[in-house]
Amino acid sequence: MTYVLGLDLGTGSLKGLLMNKEGVVLTTKAADYPLITPQTGYSEQDPAEWLKAAEQVIKEIIEETPDASSGIEGISFSGQMHSLVLLDKENHVLRNAILWNDVRTTQQCHEITEVLKEDLIKITKNRALEGFTLPKLLWIKENEPDIWQQAAHFLLPKDYLGYWMTGNQQMEYSDAAGTLILDIEDKQWSKKILSTFDIKEDICPSLVYSTDCIGTVREELLEKLGLQGTIKVFAGGADNGCAAVGTGIVKDGFGLASIGTSGVFLSFEETGDKEYEGDLHYFNHAVKDAYYSMGVTLAAGHSLTWYRNTFAKNETYEELLKGITSVPAGSEGLYFTPYIVGERTPHIDSQVRGTFIGIDTNHTRDHFTRAVLEGITFSLKDSQVLMEEKAGKTFKKIISVGGGAKNKEWLQMQADIFDASIVTMETEQGPAMGAAMIAAVGVNWFADLKICAQEVVTYKEEIQSIPENVKKYEACYRKYREIYPATKDFFQK
Ligand code: XUL
Repeated sequence: MTYVLGLDLGTGSLKGLLMNKEGVVLTTKAADYPLITPQTGYSEQDPAEWLKAAEQVIKEIIEETPDASSGIEGISFSGQMHSLVLLDKENHVLRNAILWNDVRTTQQCHEITEVLKEDLIKITKNRALEGFTLPKLLWIKENEPDIWQQAAHFLLPKDYLGYWMTGNQQMEYSDAAGTLILDIEDKQWSKKILSTFDIKEDICPSLVYSTDCIGTVREELLEKLGLQGTIKVFAGGADNGCAAVGTGIVKDGFGLASIGTSGVFLSFEETGDKEYEGDLHYFNHAVKDAYYSMGVTLAAGHSLTWYRNTFAKNETYEELLKGITSVPAGSEGLYFTPYIVGERTPHIDSQVRGTFIGIDTNHTRDHFTRAVLEGITFSLKDSQVLMEEKAGKTFKKIISVGGGAKNKEWLQMQADIFDASIVTMETEQGPAMGAAMIAAVGVNWFADLKICAQEVVTYKEEIQSIPENVKKYEACYRKYREIYPATKDFFQK
């Protein structure tokens, strides 16, 4: 039997997924690693921990599926975006990686925005956010000059994994887009941005496509990992791009609503010339020459977790959500805004916080629970509406994954609030599936990712919207949108 291996280097763990030619997932394994938080707002990781986790995961996969030791044809990656790995000229890691969820770079973001002005959005199509890579490079330059002096190359996490496997360094477009240094339409490192901030171009790796072969697994590593033969390695993609590939978001008209700790509303884009003006993230896709736009609700699942831990600690989610069917759509005038850690889309606002508004003597705990789910979904709808208003998009079908797909009533709520059919996945494997699919295209099992998705991605059910609820929710959503402008100043003060 022949296989491909997808490795997803996440924020909390590395997941490996072994897939055969028929698109069947045979084995998945994961290994955790710690976050290092030297002070509030800082979030780092030791890249050596990623390599240790990769080694463990590959060995465990081979233990469970022994013929994979000689049967793996190709390997590819998905990875947490934006996180900075700095190497010296001997390619040694210079310091811990600074992660995407580290927020120490507010000052550098202001500087980038003020200095580049309209060029920033023109070139990168994105705003300067603390999580992105360029602000991290500037922070090192300003705060750790000794490290900056020695910095010869920078990589993103999954590219560092690729370097470890093959000995070659490069970055593919879907991750390069999240650095804020890439001209995302021209697909080149922006000379304008590099020269403005006095960063030498040769610090940037060469650019490749997701399915490009970046080498083969090094001899010494083959032995260490218990692998045999010549195994081709392919560049891979950013985790959000890979999640899109793994759920079949490889053509126009489809949206993805993913509710994890944060929530993502993502849409396939044929071109990189839409005018979102930085209101949404706009990145190159893992699908060749395509793009995706994306809005992020920082506390989606996190809002529900917070709510349960605070008010229903001893109940399971199932028990807690049981009662929401008895509450009508709109929670009878109770609203929740999920801004409990600030917000990214559509309000880039780190000061705002969550609210319950409209509390009435008739409201029960089930009203509050339903309002939390509705608030999270309204917040994702904000991103859908931006895509509809700014780019004339329409969404007939939206794939729902993560926590939002685990509860039937919440799925119906999504159909009614998004006013679209909601489609669920047969099995949810996350970005590791996209990584395996990239490897499958790399080894020529499929001509491209669109064909691969047609063959490999399977959906389970489709939930239709209920016209009466759609109407109700339209009115509720209009009111929900009034809450942010009405409370913004309160939080600023
Ligand atoms: C995207 C982002 C996160 C990370 C998490 O802009 O910051 O989704 O990719 O892995």
